[in-house]
Amino acid sequence: MKNIVILISGAGSNMAAIVHAAQHDHWASRYGARVAAVISNKADARGLALARELGVPTDVLDHKAFTSREAFDAALMQRIDAFDAPGAPVLVLLAGFMRILTPQFVSHYDARLVNIHPSLLPAFAGLNTHQRAIDAGCKVAGATVHRVTPELDHGPILAQAVVPVLPGDTAQTLAARVLTQEHLIYPQVIAGLLQKQL
Ligand code: GAR
Repeated sequence: MKNIVILISGAGSNMAAIVHAAQHDHWASRYGARVAAVISNKADARGLALARELGVPTDVLDHKAFTSREAFDAALMQRIDAFDAPGAPVLVLLAGFMRILTPQFVSHYDARLVNIHPSLLPAFAGLNTHQRAIDAGCKVAGATVHRVTPELDHGPILAQAVVPVLPGDTAQTLAARVLTQEHLIYPQVIAGLLQKQL
């Protein structure tokens, strides 16, 4: 069984979309894959309760308990690698995981590490993507699913979704429009990777 571990820091709506897809589209029988765990760096992440409701085991690793980024990432790798199976290395999905990752973490998972970012990369890497798109007068915005490289919000693009920026949009209304598309493309990309045996 190929294990998928999803890392979150907040609401977990992308995580839930992936778990729903895994359950409804029978990833276990179709691809031999399952969402094995959801891990958060924040104990109060709303997505943790959501994951448990969906029947997925959860874990918390509080980054504040570590004195360095390297120490936290090393401990996180250990937790994740507990799900490694012979011949089926764990797939790690960042879903609103608001941490900058060390090069060691990124190279350890390499092609097995995937992220979703709420902009049309390479535009608007980093934070406040929606407000920055509105301020720049963009007529379209969107989201990107990409492989992760050591540089923040960079890496080979796997899928993008485009939405219009409408007159009167706020960061909140635009974020909500983008999020509906995130929920479609992220599970699609993962299903595609599983189909290709990653
Ligand atoms: C999503 O919009 C995701 O693209 C973004 O955080 C939100 C998490 O929502 N990720 C980043 O900004 C990463 N740089 P969710 O917790 O409901 O999935």
